Amino acid sequence: MTEPVQMEINLEEEGSGSSANVEYKAAHLAVRDRWKATDDTMCRHSMSFHLHHTLRSEFFASYLYLVEKIPLVKLFPVTCEYIKGEKQFYYRAQKFYEDVPASEEGMMGDFVDLSNVDLEGSRQFLKRFVGPGKAGTHRALDCGCGIGRVSKGVLLPVFEKMEMVDMMEHFLLHAHEEYLGDDADRIETYYCYNLQEFTPPKNKYDLVWMQWVACHLTDKDLMKFLMNCKKSLRPNGVIIMKDNMARQGCKLDPIDSSISRHLDIMKCIIAKAGLEVLAVEKQEGLPEVIMPVWMIAMK
Ligand SMILES: C[S@@+](CC[C@H](N)C(=O)[O-])C[C@H]1O[C@@H](n2cnc3c(N)ncnc32)[C@H](O)[C@@H]1O
Repeated sequence: MTEPVQMEINLEEEGSGSSANVEYKAAHLAVRDRWKATDDTMCRHSMSFHLHHTLRSEFFASYLYLVEKIPLVKLFPVTCEYIKGEKQFYYRAQKFYEDVPASEEGMMGDFVDLSNVDLEGSRQFLKRFVGPGKAGTHRALDCGCGIGRVSKGVLLPVFEKMEMVDMMEHFLLHAHEEYLGDDADRIETYYCYNLQEFTPPKNKYDLVWMQWVACHLTDKDLMKFLMNCKKSLRPNGVIIMKDNMARQGCKLDPIDSSISRHLDIMKCIIAKAGLEVLAVEKQEGLPEVIMPVWMIAMK
């Protein structure tokens, strides 16, 4: 098997030198060695071989943690099985959001009380990257926008025009017809698309914002999407990602089909997409019991 070696090379490339990163690499290498032995003896036509292979290609930076934490047989239906031609990882998220109400409560789950803290943190972070000599304020794209909670509270006060993309039509309709009020006139386009199938127009945006949606893409699709976002930026444009980041490794939530990655793993995917990290900041003011939320600016 050549792929585990490939994995090692990729991890080495990342090399940030932080202690968390060293721990992360050590854990990966330890598991990699165990899996290498398994591969050598495994029947190449067994389900586990195919699953192992698929996990590696879809979740290249996360897979060893996934394999380690969740038995293969359990991971299979959540991640790699196809039903009616759709990958279960995406099918489950689609089913989950069909039942989510088009409201702030729906967007925030059980944490609607934290929406204002979140929005204020985002406004402060965004300030660092727009203005004279930095990103312009002509047009932004809100990815996985839902009903437009971030568009309304963070982006529309700064950008003249906006575009929004989400896979759920009922969220976009609610944004346009009710939630955004008169500001809806400044939304040029609502794209009802899955991000894994969406290519943003080239050279169009000063800012691409993606909040709580990177967790809904596989490593491979996230990397491809980030590459396309980079091409969609105007000069000095930036991409800001805000998401839950696991304290260790990766955590798969089989209910809403999301994967929370350790910051180092996310940085590895960002680097593979050819993007440079400009700043990383933890969202303050959230309770310790919930998973940490980080903002990453990149270009
Ligand atoms: C937790 S909500 C966050 C909404 C918004 N970003 C916010 O912070 O209020 C996640 C959003 O991502 C959307 N979403 C999930 N998976 C997606 C995918 N693969 N493609 C596009 N949108 C997706 C959902 O429909 C939902 O609106």
